[in-house]
Amino acid sequence: MARLLVVHHTPSPALDSLHRAVLDGAGADGLEDVEVVSRPALLAGATDALEADGYIVGAPANLGSMAGALKHFFDLAYYPCLEATVGRPYGVYLHGNDDLGGAQRDLERIVTGLRWREAHAAVHVTGAPSADDLAAAWDLGATVAANLLDP
Ligand SMILES: Cc1cc2nc3c(=O)[nH]c(=O)nc-3n(C[C@H](O)[C@H](O)[C@H](O)COP(=O)(O)O)c2cc1C
Repeated sequence: MARLLVVHHTPSPALDSLHRAVLDGAGADGLEDVEVVSRPALLAGATDALEADGYIVGAPANLGSMAGALKHFFDLAYYPCLEATVGRPYGVYLHGNDDLGGAQRDLERIVTGLRWREAHAAVHVTGAPSADDLAAAWDLGATVAANLLDP
């Protein structure tokens, strides 16, 4: 069975609603053959990454970058994954108050190094997530999961 790993840092209700929408999408009808594993970023590591077939990462923007919790996951997983996970599909969601640019740039540098393949455009949300934002997060989950069945 294909496995989707969701690595998330969820310190607030806004991020919780995005995380739940991603999981709902990844568990949509027709995706029963995808096992979804969700790990808080501070508890996730290289083994989780190596055992998965695709990835969704989600976090707040903090201090002009991705939250340190998500960076910590990449710090642990980067070199073990460097050759082993090339070409695997991924997606990203980010939340913040006003400026997600630095966080997105930092993430892009990392996934470029890993040579992961973007399966869905990054979902960027500022402020309280709207119905459209939650729909975009749902679509992110469903699309990356579907990509594991039909790359
Ligand atoms: C120390 C700190 C730094 C932050 N830096 C940024 C930032 O650079 N860009 C941004 O858009 N939001 C920034 N934020 C806002 C967080 O991204 C936001 O609090 C988080 O996504 C949770 O959203 P919520 O507080 O609306 O629930 C920062 C928050 C904190 C506490």
